[in-house]
Amino acid sequence: MNIALLPKIELHLHLDCGLSYEVVSAIDPSINKEAYDNDFIAPAKCYNLADFLTRAVKGFALMQTKEQLTLVVHDLFKQLKASNVIYAEIRFAPLQHLEQGLSPYEVVAITEAATAAAVKATGVEARLILCTLRHFSAAQSMQTVQLVQQFANTYVAGFDIAADEAGFPIDNHIAAFQYAKANNIPCTAHAGEAKGTESVWETLQYFGPTRIGHGVRSIEDPALVKHLHDNQIHLEICPSCNVQTNMYDTYAQHPIDQLYKAGVSLNINTDAPTIVNTTLNKEYQQLQQVFGWGIKEFYQCNLYAVKAAFIPSALQQKLL
Ligand code: ADE
Ligand code: ZN
Repeated sequence: MNIALLPKIELHLHLDCGLSYEVVSAIDPSINKEAYDNDFIAPAKCYNLADFLTRAVKGFALMQTKEQLTLVVHDLFKQLKASNVIYAEIRFAPLQHLEQGLSPYEVVAITEAATAAAVKATGVEARLILCTLRHFSAAQSMQTVQLVQQFANTYVAGFDIAADEAGFPIDNHIAAFQYAKANNIPCTAHAGEAKGTESVWETLQYFGPTRIGHGVRSIEDPALVKHLHDNQIHLEICPSCNVQTNMYDTYAQHPIDQLYKAGVSLNINTDAPTIVNTTLNKEYQQLQQVFGWGIKEFYQCNLYAVKAAFIPSALQQKLL
């Protein structure tokens, strides 16, 4: 089986964590390869998620103007094409791109227009997910979800919460997720990554997402695994990222295979290809080597992903 040739779907991919050396050096020629390797790529084992996330700052610092955002979007699509990704949901936090005077609306408009152009140029289908962040205020979360609403019927398709799950509670963000629910805005949420099963339960209860980013620690509670299965809550799983953030010592200890065998809807993602130093091709290869996954499992994950994607049924049908 030639993994590189398999069509792939990626639902969990942070725009600001996926800058290639090519685009970084084009934006800031003073950054040489050694500096890129040291500052943008995390060590194979980080202390924890918060440690891992210190690298994300490097990415969004270079994404503060129309030209920079546009270059980064096109760079990412080039990488997606190289892993034969046919559909991707790309996420970013618009409020992290205001340092050089862009308004939140302009950030989303620029990124959306670049996405539309990149879809046309590469043939890779895509949508955007706007993220609030755990350390944001209630007002910032509300502003972010309202941006999703303002960009309805464009490439902007959903709402997420990212950043340090262990460091900040959910309280500030409940109203934004309620707003999303009231306005039929598709939602996902990072949970069960830096915290355990109680975090997944509270995320489901208070945010009501149809998908969970990571969610892998759900495996620790059989009742939660059953709940995910029975309610078709989809897990966006990013195996190498979880090993790097020190959730698991090795890839072999990752519960993706157990969750798959329990019938939970899930798919394979990179999360942060630059920080993790991975590609979707590499993730597939690891799953093949470590768990013996093959066409059957990869195809099933793609089916689950298409069903869980934040797209109209006509596009779902086209991807199947
Ligand atoms: N932002 C980028 N990668 C992330 C992760 N794995 N968890 C939370 N926020 C993130
Ligand atoms: Zn993530």
